[in-house]
Amino acid sequence: MKKWMMAIGLGAMLTLGACGGDDEDTSSNGDSGSNTASVDAEAVYAQNCAACHGANLEGMSGPSLEQVGARLSAEDIENIIRNGQGAMPANLIEDDEEITAVSAWLAEKK
Ligand code: HEC
Repeated sequence: MKKWMMAIGLGAMLTLGACGGDDEDTSSNGDSGSNTASVDAEAVYAQNCAACHGANLEGMSGPSLEQVGARLSAEDIENIIRNGQGAMPANLIEDDEEITAVSAWLAEKK
């Protein structure tokens, strides 16, 4: 519901910002629905996570994340990235946007 409301708000802002008369539709109609366009989640993963979880999520010293989205929500994954879990260190990523982007990306892996 939050995302839905944000989408409306964003849409309104874009419409106002465009301030043109023509009805060009600037809304993204992809189904990804993410607000993380500025962050390349895969690159963030490759930099911060692949050493333990594998370049293809297959797992190395850390568990495979190939189907992590089936077990954990984006929120769960965010918490793990922020707080660490077991042998996984906390605060691997500092940037909130990057954390959100990687979490959303991984949550789709199922
Ligand atoms: C130093 C190695 C290491 C790095 C770097 C690392 N992890 Fe982990 N990760 C682990 C280990 C080990 C576990 C298993 C922890 C446990 O439950 O004992 C784990 C667990 C997880 C889990 C939970 C998996 C599950 O099925 O419960 C997620 C999600 C995860 N890591 C995501 C990430 C992300 C995203 C990054 C990059 C920001 C990352 N990890 C970086 C070692 C690492």
